[in-house]
Amino acid sequence: MSANPGDSTVPYDISAERGWVRVADVVPAPGTIVESFIDRKGQTDDLVVWTTASGVPCVSEARCPHQWSHLASEGAVDGEELVCVSHFWRFGVEGEGWKQNVNGRRDRKGDLEVLPCVEYDGGVWVQSAD
Ligand code: FES
Repeated sequence: MSANPGDSTVPYDISAERGWVRVADVVPAPGTIVESFIDRKGQTDDLVVWTTASGVPCVSEARCPHQWSHLASEGAVDGEELVCVSHFWRFGVEGEGWKQNVNGRRDRKGDLEVLPCVEYDGGVWVQSAD
């Protein structure tokens, strides 16, 4: 079972018993980012929960793959992408990483891990791997 980023259609049982974890008590407003975390595989991983300008929620690892900036403090939403303002790598809702130069040329960079999420009961949920 999986969900797409921002999938607000929930055809299955969202519950802790089925491995779902509530990572945000509210869906962030479009264009905003909140910090979160998840306990999985014996460790606690920092996450960010963010919503695109068009209202698609997304959950991803919190650390930029470039030089490890924390995207809750060094991130900004630009349209449908999350931008690390440290060096302006940008990430789509599937986690694909890009660097865009001043002329608009985009080059592939490292990706962010994205956790498929759903909106449910007023919050944002992901399914834990363990
Ligand atoms: S640390 Fe994020 S772009 Fe460099």
